[in-house]
Amino acid sequence: MKLTIEPAHLSCTVGEGQSLLEAALAAGIDMPRSCRNGTCRACLCHLEAGQVRYRVEWPGLSPDEKDEGCVLPCVAMPMGDVVLRAPSARRRIDGAGA
Ligand code: FES
Repeated sequence: MKLTIEPAHLSCTVGEGQSLLEAALAAGIDMPRSCRNGTCRACLCHLEAGQVRYRVEWPGLSPDEKDEGCVLPCVAMPMGDVVLRAPSARRRIDGAGA
């Protein structure tokens, strides 16, 4: 499955069982994050296309936020190719993992 992050046009492959955040970090893409378990909302961004499911039962999103397309990539796993809008995502200069 492919993850694309706009508006920087970054992309990477998401492996089986990987969250969107884990896949991005492994590919050398830096994104805001903190708890990595779906509670702090530091990683919150928007889903532009595709669908996700959550690794935890109650990710820190209200139903309204979910309806608006907000996602928490640290605990979101793609159900196909997805496009996220995360303006602060950057390719890491050193290209290293998390
Ligand atoms: S890093 Fe805390 S909710 Fe995603």
